[in-house]
Amino acid sequence: MQQFGVIGLSVMGKNLALNVKNHGYSVSGFSIDKPEVDALAKYEDKDLKPTYTWEEFVNSLEKPRKILIQIMAGKPVDETLQKLLPLLDKGDILIDGGNSNFHDTNRRYEEMEKHGIHFIGMGVSGGEEGALNGPALMPGGDEKAYEEVSPILEAMAAKTPTGQPCVGYIGPAGSGHYVKMVHNGIEYGIMQIISEVYDVLRTVGHYSNDEMSEIFKNWDKGALQAYLIEITAKVLKQKDNLTDDHIIDHILNEASYKGTGNWMLEDAIRLGAPITVIAEAVLARFMSKATLRDDPEPKIDPEKAPKDLVDQLAKALYLAMAVSYGQGFEQLTMAAKAYNWRLHYSTIAQNWEAGCIIRSQMLHDIKFAYNADKDLPNLFKAPFFDKVKKENISALREVVKIAADAGVPTPTLSAALNYLESIFNPRLPQNMIQGQRDYFGAHTYQRNDRPGTFHTEWYEEK
Ligand code: 6PG
Repeated sequence: MQQFGVIGLSVMGKNLALNVKNHGYSVSGFSIDKPEVDALAKYEDKDLKPTYTWEEFVNSLEKPRKILIQIMAGKPVDETLQKLLPLLDKGDILIDGGNSNFHDTNRRYEEMEKHGIHFIGMGVSGGEEGALNGPALMPGGDEKAYEEVSPILEAMAAKTPTGQPCVGYIGPAGSGHYVKMVHNGIEYGIMQIISEVYDVLRTVGHYSNDEMSEIFKNWDKGALQAYLIEITAKVLKQKDNLTDDHIIDHILNEASYKGTGNWMLEDAIRLGAPITVIAEAVLARFMSKATLRDDPEPKIDPEKAPKDLVDQLAKALYLAMAVSYGQGFEQLTMAAKAYNWRLHYSTIAQNWEAGCIIRSQMLHDIKFAYNADKDLPNLFKAPFFDKVKKENISALREVVKIAADAGVPTPTLSAALNYLESIFNPRLPQNMIQGQRDYFGAHTYQRNDRPGTFHTEWYEEK
């Protein structure tokens, strides 16, 4: 009898199966795509059992069965559940490791619960390489069921630099997939921030691709250390195999998306979460596909570039990244309240510290901030991040100015600056909005000097 089962054996599923097996567990694999099962059979490993039918797969597993479903999100997951249900026993545990929408996971969790099946919606991050060598895992669902599978999940997960596993119970129902969705929103934010910094470096600083690669490589050695910074250096360095140029100069500048970042924005709108950097990052991908491309390229005199451009950009990048993370955690805080989840933000930061796409040195500091105050209302209320803001905001302001003067768009860098200028500002001008609303629609307003709800009989000047 095998200890763990994996359904779906394309790259992610196959690598996760190998990962579990490499940690000493026996695994059965099944796919409706026969060649994928044949590929597993080629390993000829007694702890890696290829199975060719639903029945053979389910019957090969010891009870309670622990099954990871690693297939395309959406309808295929529902179809798989329908196939499995008649074959399972009460108490079996299903784990959906795809990028499922948390609404679907909430629904599936309830449906499975009715049949006595435990359903865990688990965010998995780290791509193909992470799946094999240690992904970050974000499991949500029934806590008791989580405890049953936690030894396997902990064994297969990435480990933080201090050796803790990048997996921990997130919360009930769809909360694990919610956290993965937020991970992806933060990912969109940081990717766009980096892209804007690259744009300022090349357009204002006139740095070559190799020089920029070195700049990112150096940044990756210090406080800015992050997987996305590391791969940016590599993307900039790579030569094309069709021409002698750098590949980056031949990649069409239209960003695609599968949509998890967009989902975060949809829920932010429902919750009223001010995730401006992530929203701009989502919209920047739309903009890149809608651009009319008929402006002349900006021409900037290299002499005009400030001497400390690289240092200023490093500081702006660091602070804007902190805002992207901060907004992610802000939305999590609002979602936890709205959906009645008890989320542990330091566990979430730890889950993201290694293995996943947004892993970085900064997540270590975020984990400490939430360890020190588990109810932190905003990341920038933590002393460490308050200092980060104070030390870097003038550089961010300067970079936004430099870019504006050069005609370089900075949707996320500007959004990060505006967020920080707004969120702690006691003098925001929205008193005017309230006045206007009351004027044209008698929508009423609150006062800043006494409690209650008020309406003014606005008078027209004669
Ligand atoms: C991860 C990634 C992964 C996927 C993104 C890509 O954590 O491993 O986030 O899930 O690569 O979803 O998303 P887009 O196609 O929307 O950019």
